[in-house]
Amino acid sequence: MPLLDLSEQYRALEGQILAAIERVLASQRFILGPEGEAFERAVAAYCGSPHALGVSSGTDALLNAFMALGIGPGDAVITSAYSFFATGGCIARVGARPILIDIDPTTFNLSPAALESYIDNRCRKSSGQLLDENGQTIRAIVPVHLFGVCCEMDRIHRISEQYQLDVIEDAAQALGAEYQTSHMGVRKAGTMGEVGCFSFYPSKNLGAAGDAGLIICRDEKLAEKLRIFRQHGMERRYHHQFIGGNFRLDEIQAAILNVKLPHLEKWSAARRAAADRYRNEFEQRGLTGKITLPAEPYRDRGLTNHHIYHQYVIRTRRRDELREHLAKCDIDTAIYYPLGLHEQECFAYLGYKKGDLPETERATRQTLALPIYPEISREAQQYVANSIANFFE
Ligand SMILES: Cc1ncc(COP(=O)(O)O)c(C=O)c1O
Repeated sequence: MPLLDLSEQYRALEGQILAAIERVLASQRFILGPEGEAFERAVAAYCGSPHALGVSSGTDALLNAFMALGIGPGDAVITSAYSFFATGGCIARVGARPILIDIDPTTFNLSPAALESYIDNRCRKSSGQLLDENGQTIRAIVPVHLFGVCCEMDRIHRISEQYQLDVIEDAAQALGAEYQTSHMGVRKAGTMGEVGCFSFYPSKNLGAAGDAGLIICRDEKLAEKLRIFRQHGMERRYHHQFIGGNFRLDEIQAAILNVKLPHLEKWSAARRAAADRYRNEFEQRGLTGKITLPAEPYRDRGLTNHHIYHQYVIRTRRRDELREHLAKCDIDTAIYYPLGLHEQECFAYLGYKKGDLPETERATRQTLALPIYPEISREAQQYVANSIANFFE
């Protein structure tokens, strides 16, 4: 039983996807063309954001954003220690210092309390800027909406406004996820900060047939800058005002994504229904005291996409044994993530020690992602629940 099986989804759309690819081939326009522009307009409308630009991956979305915001050496950027590597990697790649903050153990997202405590105890203000303990200027916060549920953006905003920090949302796993803000009403992930970054890696809720990503933003000037950085910092052909990169989205990916985007809401709803079924099955078998189910902190706030279940992640102290048992039952699982960013070898220079970020470290030992995708069957979920029940018997 796979963690993710998108073959049924592909079969349903195969004709349209093949036609879209043929259209691009016939047009012989492969990079930054009408398919990409249509996709940008469609995602901007879906998210309720004025500007969108397609890029080559979620990683490049982050990199492009940091570059266009002029974040670099001497700067520091705050993010969660519990994320996919790209979040921290891109901060370091522009020469800034990643500041890794512990998570809220219920949602696995950046903990606003830990962030406040870090700022109060370790930072100082100088000439209106917030400096970290190394004297580097903290420029931005990157909340990561992990597994498909938004961070506590109201509290993060209060901090970003107090210290004038840019907010760059890593919404790679959260296209369509919603949050009820206190000052802007219901917003979709990626629209609550200066910039929102998305990934369409094939396993994402909206997946391309290769790498692809997208950036959304509110500000027109920033959108223009992002566009310039997407193409080697070049506004006029072969005249380079900045050093950018090749972060362009290709037309075949955009054409495929244009076919799939109209189905996203239905797919996210099906994932949510699958999560409800898991909950029922686990409750019926008395498992909820033995495994911790995913939290749904915004479920009662009248939001449709309070969670989009990019991943269905449980936790248990006996994670590794359970994983082994499920493998024997032919059930695929995954560990997102086995190390905190602060424990990665390449970030040793940041000087974190074991025990510095206890909730992140605990999560790396206890979390287990179970199979979830829109077409997962009730029988398959019952088999997972029975297998977990057998393990705890
Ligand atoms: C939280 C997070 N950030 C960034 C990325 C990077 O996206 P991509 O794989 O498209 O480069 C991913 C996806 O894998 C992710 O899950």
